[in-house]
Amino acid sequence: MAGTSFLRRVSLYGFRGSLSSPKSNSVDNQPSETLPVTPETQTVLLLRGARQPYELTEDYPVPGLRDDREVLVRAQAIGLNPIDWKAPDFNFAIPELPYISGRELAGEIVKVGQSSRLKAGDRILVISTDYRDLRKAAYQQYVVALDYNTVRLPPTLSPEEGSTLGVAFVAAALSLGVCMGLDFSSVLDGPNLYTLLRQLPPDSIATDIREECLDNIQADERAQPGDWLAIWGGSSTSANLTLQLARLAGLRTIATADKAKHGLRLSNHKTLRPDLLVDSHDPARAVEIIRANAKGQLRFGIDTRGRESAGWLMQALGKEGEKNGNTPLAPQPAQPAAHLIGLTGLPKQVAPEGVQYHTVPIKLFHEVPAVGQALVEWLERLLEQGLVTPPDIIDVEQGLGSVNRGLDRMRRGEISGGKLVVRVD
Ligand SMILES: NC(=O)c1ccc[n+]([C@@H]2O[C@H](COP(=O)([O-])OP(=O)(O)OC[C@H]3O[C@@H](n4cnc5c(N)ncnc54)[C@H](OP(=O)(O)O)[C@@H]3O)[C@@H](O)[C@H]2O)c1
Repeated sequence: MAGTSFLRRVSLYGFRGSLSSPKSNSVDNQPSETLPVTPETQTVLLLRGARQPYELTEDYPVPGLRDDREVLVRAQAIGLNPIDWKAPDFNFAIPELPYISGRELAGEIVKVGQSSRLKAGDRILVISTDYRDLRKAAYQQYVVALDYNTVRLPPTLSPEEGSTLGVAFVAAALSLGVCMGLDFSSVLDGPNLYTLLRQLPPDSIATDIREECLDNIQADERAQPGDWLAIWGGSSTSANLTLQLARLAGLRTIATADKAKHGLRLSNHKTLRPDLLVDSHDPARAVEIIRANAKGQLRFGIDTRGRESAGWLMQALGKEGEKNGNTPLAPQPAQPAAHLIGLTGLPKQVAPEGVQYHTVPIKLFHEVPAVGQALVEWLERLLEQGLVTPPDIIDVEQGLGSVNRGLDRMRRGEISGGKLVVRVD
């Protein structure tokens, strides 16, 4: 692949720091630690328009650092995410064209800014939630990352494994910690995001997520150890990390999934095994089973599939004898509200009384350094101690040029219950 061509272009003087991408990446003149030889140009995948394949493009400038908390990473493995094919297919989340996509990777740091907690040579994973900054996208050989969006990998994990879990970890931690108010401090001194957010100046949180972050759950409604959490779409990677974190923090978990496909794997799994696994084939029956087992105590639901299944999950919430659905039969107003989090959509209908809808304030991770840093440092400890394990790898494709093929496999629904990874070098 294009690797040979970029190797020929390696600068004898190392990273020159004056490169800018065609979209005005600013001059990189920060002093830095050891400078391994970094080329001036690289191979990237460019999206030139909606509903088009990504185009393998050589001689694209290596992005420069703009901030002393940024690092430059040589990508080794990329984890593919559903958004990577959904965005071009449905023409959303593409802020400019040509566009570079890709939300997570693992690799090696080749350059650090002045105040980074990381150093050149560190083996890391990068969680690139900032999809508006093309320098940070994963579908390129060299990627810029904020040090508070970067996690050191323990020696036990390969780059492929490291590339599988970042986005799902952030989605899980924010769903549980922000939307549900779950305190992680009992788990390797994890973050108490509910408190942390309320200690920040409110205007440090973007206006479009401020209500979600500060107002959508009251102190007396926060999830506590022993509470039930139901996850609809239990086979997904985000469900995987949510189950692991919820279990570590002491929640009782229910997962719905296609038991024929995922039953054995989920019910026998060491770190993500739910307390109750429910077959999703007949959703009305699944709701009945959840309600019968949680005995009206289910106040928290996370849906990973879409609007329709979020609607089913809503019906499972609430007190015994009540069903949230077409009629507003939620917990009484005096009871703590139930909370429904939609990763991919929420029910069409307005939330019935006693139910609060949530969306995941994902950009907190890159926009609020205190949140990003708390999460990445915690994930480093969790991985180091083996308390969180990466999702299964379904397959590894070779080279950036294979990304389109990988995304086609995802479009066809062939990647289920684990991750598809692309080895870059
Ligand atoms: N809001 C946020 O911040 C946020 C963050 C992360 C993810 N998300 C969204 O959450 C959803 C789950 O993400 P994920 O990364 O956890 O998913 P994932 O691991 O890639 O897959 C989820 C499950 O969907 C099913 N599936 C696979 N391909 C499919 C296809 N082409 N059509 C329909 N179903 C398919 C499979 O389950 P079965 O084989 O069991 O059917 C698979 O296990 C996605 O929509 C993603 O965009 C949102």
